[in-house]
Amino acid sequence: MKYWAIVPAAGSGKRMGSDAALPKQYLRLNDRTLLEHSLLRLDGLDILSGIVVVLAENDAQWQDLALDLAKPVITAPGGAERAQSVFNGVMALNELAAEDDWVIVHDAVRPCVRISDIQKLVQEVSATDTGGLLAMPVNDTLKKVSPDSMVETTLNRDHLWRAATPQMFRLGLLRQALENAIAGNISVTDESQAMELAGFNARLIQCSPDNIKITYPEDLAIAATVLSIQQENDRQ
Ligand code: CTP
Ligand code: MG
Repeated sequence: MKYWAIVPAAGSGKRMGSDAALPKQYLRLNDRTLLEHSLLRLDGLDILSGIVVVLAENDAQWQDLALDLAKPVITAPGGAERAQSVFNGVMALNELAAEDDWVIVHDAVRPCVRISDIQKLVQEVSATDTGGLLAMPVNDTLKKVSPDSMVETTLNRDHLWRAATPQMFRLGLLRQALENAIAGNISVTDESQAMELAGFNARLIQCSPDNIKITYPEDLAIAATVLSIQQENDRQ
């Protein structure tokens, strides 16, 4: 049984509001683009057989990256929604991988994920039948508000988690789950939601809160700080 990674990198980064010619996965953090950071974290995983990078049709940056990865990389075409992009990545693996192989899906825009957290995911999820994902417990007090921003009620945050990536599932089950969601025109924002709709439970694995997703412009400065703290810790 093998392990493969899929990195969806075909979004346009609307909430980032960056130049349409420079989608957020190609914004720089220190010396590298977000996509390169994310790929390097996955590349640190010994058991990985290969990585599929899913790229937008109008991608103009990928070919200019000076990537030096240990793992073989192939590309797949992006879709209109994230789920379609990941599905296209899964389809690109059909010829290479077996139905029971594990697929590790990781957002191109989560450059700070710790390799040790990815390893924990792989170790713990490999013991399950279907899969699991990294996630963080919710630690804020949650308010449900009306459209005019008035608090209606305070929600109980017990048992509430923020889903992150990587998410790891069996190739065959993930393909079927995404296919069902797409065919049913059901919008799913992560793989585990597609699996859930297909009737499978995913195991939650707690990761460090530094596994942030770069969504808004201010997230870049936070990520730069996280990277420098991680580098400092590695040196110690
Ligand atoms: N993604 C993708 N294909 C899409 C949409 C998103 O491959 N059609 C990827 C993004 O490139 C990103 C990841 O999915 O790596 C997480 O998505 P998100 O943070 O929502 O990125 P964008 O969709 O680019 O941003 P926004 O929603 O603000 O437009
Ligand atoms: Mg999006």
